[in-house]
Formats: sequence, C-alpha cells, structure tokens
Amino acid sequence: MKTPVDIVNKPLQTEVVSTKSTHFKPNPLMDQFIDDLMSKMTLDEKLGQLNLPSAGDFTTGQAKSSNIGQKIKEGRVGGLFNIKGVDKIRETQRVAIEESRLKIPMLFGMDVIHGYESTFPIPLGLASSWDMDLIQQSARVAAQEATADGINWTFSPMVDISRDPRWGRMSEGSGEDPYLGSMIARAMISGYQGNDLSANNTMLACVKHFALYGAPEGGRDYNTVDMSRITMYNVYFPPYKAAVEAGVGSVMASFNEVEGIPATANRWLQTEVLRNQWGFEGLNVSDYTGIKEMIAHGIGDLQTVSALALHAGVDMDMVSEGFLTTLKKSLDEGKITHSEIDQAARRILEAKYRLGLFDDPYKYCNAERAKKEIYSAKNRAIARNVASQSMVLLKNRNQLLPLSPKGKIAVIGPLSDNPENMPGTWSVASKHADAVTLLKGLKEMYGKQVEFLSAKGANFDYDTEFENRITMFGKKAYRDERNKEEILKEALDIANKVDVIIVALGEASESSGEASSMVNLELRQSQKDLLRELKKTGKPIVLVLFNGRAMVINEENEIADAILNVWFPGSEAGYAISDVLFGKVNPSAKLPVTFPRSVGQIPIYYNHKNTGRPLTDENVWEKFRTAYLDVSNTPLFPFGFGLSYTTFNYSNVNVSSKNLQGNVKLTASVTVKNTGKYDGAEVVQLYIRDVFGMNTRPVKELKGFQKVMLKAGESKTVSFDITPEELKYYNNDLKYDWESGDFEIMIGTNSKDVNSVTINWQK
Ligand code: BGC
Repeated sequence: MKTPVDIVNKPLQTEVVSTKSTHFKPNPLMDQFIDDLMSKMTLDEKLGQLNLPSAGDFTTGQAKSSNIGQKIKEGRVGGLFNIKGVDKIRETQRVAIEESRLKIPMLFGMDVIHGYESTFPIPLGLASSWDMDLIQQSARVAAQEATADGINWTFSPMVDISRDPRWGRMSEGSGEDPYLGSMIARAMISGYQGNDLSANNTMLACVKHFALYGAPEGGRDYNTVDMSRITMYNVYFPPYKAAVEAGVGSVMASFNEVEGIPATANRWLQTEVLRNQWGFEGLNVSDYTGIKEMIAHGIGDLQTVSALALHAGVDMDMVSEGFLTTLKKSLDEGKITHSEIDQAARRILEAKYRLGLFDDPYKYCNAERAKKEIYSAKNRAIARNVASQSMVLLKNRNQLLPLSPKGKIAVIGPLSDNPENMPGTWSVASKHADAVTLLKGLKEMYGKQVEFLSAKGANFDYDTEFENRITMFGKKAYRDERNKEEILKEALDIANKVDVIIVALGEASESSGEASSMVNLELRQSQKDLLRELKKTGKPIVLVLFNGRAMVINEENEIADAILNVWFPGSEAGYAISDVLFGKVNPSAKLPVTFPRSVGQIPIYYNHKNTGRPLTDENVWEKFRTAYLDVSNTPLFPFGFGLSYTTFNYSNVNVSSKNLQGNVKLTASVTVKNTGKYDGAEVVQLYIRDVFGMNTRPVKELKGFQKVMLKAGESKTVSFDITPEELKYYNNDLKYDWESGDFEIMIGTNSKDVNSVTINWQK
C-alpha cells in the first residue's frame, strides 16, 4: 500500500514541468532578471520567499508568527498579510529593502473581499445585482483604496459554488450557478487587476478556494467533500477556470479534501487540472495553516505534509511555516527536488516583478494618496449605488412599497440601528462603527417629511452565548439587558402609533461567513416573536431582511406585507435601503441562490437532474415519485427570482430557426414590456435544457442574461445568440462536447417562470 511518504519519495525530476511561465505574456526581461536574482539566492533565501506569515492585525486561526521583523531581515519572509496602514506597511517594506541581504520586496496581502473602507455589499449581494459593470466597478474601487494603503494582493474573489445555505461562506461567493459565477469571477478579476498589473492602483487577485470548498458534507465548514468528476467539471470548476482564463495572478488551495486527498496536497488538482489542463502559471498559495492542518487530516507529520504540498504545486505557505522549517530536511533526504523549490520561488518572484515591486517597492505606500482616495465621497457614493442594486424585493403585497414620505413610520428590530453589523462578514478594513444604519439613513433622508419612531423590539437572540458567537470581531450586538417583555412592549407602543412598520430582522454579521455553519436557517426565536406581535397591531409591515445566505422564511413570508432582502449592504447600508424603500431606486436584483422551504430540502438548486421518477406536477405529491411526504419539492423563492415596483410582461420565445445543423448561430428573443407605473430594470434570463444526452442532463441551465432598462409602458426585444458552445458539457469521459438532438430554449424573469420553445440541432 502506498503511503503519503512513498508518494513524496517517488522520483520527481522527470515530472516537474518547465519552471518558466508562458500563460502570461512572455517576458524575457523578467526571466533574465529572475534568473540573475535566483543565481544569487541561497537555499534559505529561496525558502524564505515561500513563507507567508500573518502580521496578526486580524486572524482566522490560532497561529501567529513570532519575530517577524527579524525573519524579514534574514530573508525568511516572502510576504505578509493582515497588516493595515500605509505607514506600517512602508516601514515593514523598508526592513526588507534596507536590512535584508538581497533587498527583495515583499507582497502585502489582505482579504479585500467586498470593498475596503468604502464597503460594498457582501459578495452574495453583489452577485444579486447580475450587473457585471457594477461588480467590476466595486472591485476597481476596492483595489484603488487598498493599493493606496499599501496592499498589493487581495485574497479575492471567492468563487466557490454553493448549493447549501447551511454553509456560512455562501455569503462570500456568487451563489449556486456556474455560469453566473464565471461571469462574476471575470468581472472581479478585471476590476482588481485592471489591464496593467504594474500600475500603482491595481493589485494581484487570488481566486479561491481551489477547489470544491463550497460543498462540505452537512454544510459544516471545512468538512469532507466527496463528488463525481462530472459534477466537478460541469458545476464546481467553471468559475475557477474562468478566473484562470481572465488571467488571475494567484490561486488559493482549499482546506477540504478532494477525492480523499486534501486539496493542498492534491497534485491532480493543483497541477494536472490547474496548470496542465487550464494553463495557470501564476502563484499558488495555501490557505491559512492549510499545510499544517493536513496533519489533522491524517496524511502525515509537518515535514511530510509540507513536502506533499510543494509537490502538489503549492508555492507559498500561509502561516504554517512548514515550508520554512522542513523543506530543507526533505531536500536532504531526497523527498523533494531543488527544481521544485526553484519553481515555487520563481512564481513568487514573478508575481512581485509583474506588480513592479522591483522597480519601486514603495509604489503602494503613498500617505497623501491614502488620505485622498480612501473612503472618499465618490467611492462611498458608488458603494451606495451598488448596494441599492443588490437588494432583492421578495414580496410586495398590495404594492406597499415604495413608501410615501409622509406620516409616522416605526423602525424596529435588532438591525435597525446597529452600525457594526451593516458591512457584513469579511470586511476587515471597514470602518464598522461609521457604517450608516437604517435608522440613520432614513432620518437623514426623510426625517423632515416623516416622523420616525424607533425601538429595538428584540435582541438578536434570547441566548447571550449565541449572540456572542454571531457578533464576533467587534461587531457589537448592543444587547439590551432589560427583560424581553419590556423590550417588546416599548416596540409595540410605538408600532401602535404609526402608519407603517419597518422591521429590520435577520442575521448578525458573523452569523454567516467563515466557520458560521448553521442547521437552523429560520429567524431566531426572539425575532420571530417580535414579528408575530407586530402583526397583531394590524399595521402594514415591511420586513428588511439582513442575511448572508438563503434563509427559511415561510412564516415571515406569510406575515410581512413586503420583504426586501438586503443581505449585508456595506458601509452605506442605511442610505441604500432608504433609496429602495422610498422608490428612488426601483429594485431589480435577482436571487443568485434558491431559498428553500425547509432545511431538509438542502441541497436544493434550480439546475438539478430530472431523475427517473419526477413529479408530474412539482406541487402535487404522488407515491413512488421523487418527493417528500411532508414538504413540496419546490423552493420558497427560486434562483433568479426578484420583484420590481413595476411589472414586466414576456412574449413567447421567437427563434431564428427550429431546425439547425452544424456550427451555426441560433437567435432566440422575447419582447419584454414594462406594464406597470414605474421605470425599471429587468434581468432577462436564458435557460437551456438538453432534452436527451449520453449523460443525464439538468432540467435547465442558465446560459445567458441581460439587464434591460424599460420606461413605464416601454417594450424592448431582447435577443440571445446561441451557438453549439452553449450546448457543450463534460460527459463521463470528461470530454467537453455537445450532442445532436432536441433542446428546450427558455427565457423568463426567473428560473421557474419561463416561456419556452423546443428546437432540434444536428451536428
Ligand atoms: C480563509 C481565507 C482567507 C485566509 C486569510 C482563511 O481562514 O479561509 O479565505 O483568505 O484565511 O485571511
């Protein structure tokens, strides 16, 4: 039986591919420069480049490196992360440049995930806009601000597909769909990296977490992943691949295992798929202590797992210091080769070269620029606009929204006036205490016309211990220590005096995000009780729902008259929500994830297979069919769903031909009419079903979308060009191709409500 050590011991020389990159534009000057530099480097200095410790300003794990300053002087640090502030970074870079032997500049990384100080909606919110220009713009602003503050590397975008809202990190990605996820991956990377990585306002992006991190068993973070290769290639891989095609400069290996081997040591994944199949030639970094954690995974001691990671294709070791402390021994023992170390060091030096750090190591450290560009009025205005475009209107009984700015309005709930919980998870650079709350936004914008009365009504949760868990990292709970009856009574007194109730409920910032898995996706009991009591007043209720994942909100959907799903909107939250509630912005966002009726339906996603025993009518139970006895198969809100203050009518689908042959183009179009009173934008969605295939095929797959603006009463024809490219999939042999036959072409306002036509396409 082979052990991990045997695998490390395998002769490697012949397997190691070229140490020079060709994916990026060939650059003989760079190659020459790095050849010269590497010829001067000792083994220790090369290993030093592979070391990425955390400076400890914010951490997600236990480990913190000690004596970082000394290590930098000794050339034993390649980059640093979790450090904020232009002066601190300049000084740290100075030590590398002036006090280390070879004066190699350092990378400075940070999780700049959805903006920097000007904070944008969490990525799931960004995805809801279905607006690639806005998403790109959000990444551009993030890069502008972060690079002004000394950062040159962001650990973003996270493109992990997730079909499981129990997994808290659904908040950090673009949802469940590979097509939408791939589009967003490209938009984010072009926003961060721009056209010129060496400019002082662009930064190295890092696509993560490679791979399949979004599919842990039971939705529990870091848990085992087990899936077929056809699902990997068709569903989970596409956004990572799209990122590579978009020229992403770095990739982060994921914590989970893939086919029984931790991703960080999985050579098939990190080298065969990523580099040989997709042509990635940038740098590959482990996740935080990802190397060391393979000891707990059970594949070896620190020396073994470090050698395995290097051999798999990981170049840089985040926090574990396994590369730094054990690779020399492994080299002496013949378990790894010089060329593997050289290759990893070269990739890191290349990233530094591409950023232009060898020309000017301080190019991102300009205090003047930092003062002017970070958290500027202009950037905050962009963040506000993007936030308002990310809010999904789930319900609007009797057109309660938009509200008229008059009379008395109650603003109630644990999220009505809580600044720290507005930016959402992974907003490490955000000025949390300054974030605009709903109450603040409403009062500033409409305080002259409307009398706003406010009360908390309930804490996040009755349980203090749980409340502490969901408001970590300084995201205050503002817990009201009075007894629950008193807190509630105050809210009801107010509610009884007003014309409309706005109630701000949902998750706290850290209810979702890393290590925030949940099995109960309903509102917490304290908040449910509040809503039920408010209902008894008989006043119209607008629920403003804060969340970092799809939630189970059947009861709230019954009780509330209107529901605006705002995710975590960022630093400008209160302004953006007010813009939507009062109709300055007509909502147009659409869900990038399916909202289940019950946790028991999970995983639930729109692009599922039909099975041999589908229900004839998804809403009607039948014995011996794929169904539940106690709940319908349908979601509460389908993927792609989102209302507007206006209404849209879709014509039947028109196709340029119903019988096609060969590599030609099909045009499918609909006429969409704005039939309501307001101007508004609609995301028109194209889905395709491959009716018969060699493999079973999903009931539908998103293959295109367009966001169109329609004035009240206006009609527009929206056309999609479809080629055999859109019909291709990876079959059982992992061959990417299409097959002759019937295809259903569907266009509609969400994944459920579509008009369709069937065509036949022969090879
Ligand atoms: C997360 C990564 C993150 C890293 C560095 C880890 O815990 O999984 O997404 O980039 O920490 O902060």
